[in-house]
Amino acid sequence: MDYKNLIIEAANGIAVLTVNSPKTLNALNGEVLGELESAFYELNRNDAVKAVIVTGAGDKAFVAGADIKEMASMSAYEGHQFGLKGQRVMMLIEKMTKPVIAAVNGYALGGGLELALACDFIYASSKAKLGFPEVTLGIMPGFGGTQNLARLIGPNRANELIFTGRMIDAEKACAWGIVNEVIAPEELMAKARDTAAAITGVGTLGVSYAKNAIANGLNMTKEDGFRYEASLFGVLFATKDQKEGMSAFVDKRKAAFTGK
Ligand code: CAA
Repeated sequence: MDYKNLIIEAANGIAVLTVNSPKTLNALNGEVLGELESAFYELNRNDAVKAVIVTGAGDKAFVAGADIKEMASMSAYEGHQFGLKGQRVMMLIEKMTKPVIAAVNGYALGGGLELALACDFIYASSKAKLGFPEVTLGIMPGFGGTQNLARLIGPNRANELIFTGRMIDAEKACAWGIVNEVIAPEELMAKARDTAAAITGVGTLGVSYAKNAIANGLNMTKEDGFRYEASLFGVLFATKDQKEGMSAFVDKRKAAFTGK
């Protein structure tokens, strides 16, 4: 499928999705959000894709937020609908049955940071800047940022970031637990690809079920989470990947997983 604002390249089970509207620092307008929704839906149903990397075009920005020029004249109703549309995309990413890695190559602000937070984890270039400038525009984060950031790093640091509208650098974002690792700009994509390759080389059903257990378990009591984990753990014993993984170990050979 062709997109006006996205570039998608897939090889060896890894798809790289690049938000490509550098004139606005890859800002998310309604059209870009619509394309993201279709693209993630397609990537999820494509069995040849085992992991996805999300990044931004150009060397300046990952995504500089929702499109301020488009939002400027919105009514309350339109603002609500726009927020719901952005949230739908973020939820779709969170519910992907395969891992999604954010490679944050520059500014990740507002909706851009929300896009990164919807991914399973974030690698950031050492020149990345992250933040929620919404309050400087008289609004607040609206694509899941208040919920995802507070759940990820706790309310106190989330409050500071969101209430001040200030940006933080990649090192601080890493120290706060928003970013897994800070990487030299020229090595960012290689690092993301290397990790994606490690993930696609193992039993991808196990990865998918683990993602499901972690994400859903966080919304349960620990006891319910344990029960949920046990059910998914049990189901994996009905898969070819479990048979193959364990017999390969016993036979001292490399497993040939099929994701079935
Ligand atoms: N929306 C629309 N256009 C944007 C944009 C955005 N979020 N961010 C940047 N642009 C545009 C600029 O208007 C500019 O366009 P023109 O050349 O036509 O003037 C172009 O991209 C380049 O930007 P700058 O000239 O501003 O570049 P800079 O290097 O001087 O500054 C920046 C970079 C600090 C990221 C600055 O562009 C900026 O502050 N952008 C806005 C960031 C922001 O507030 N994001 C949050 C949006 S609200 C939101 O996301 C709500 C939500 O939660 C859903």
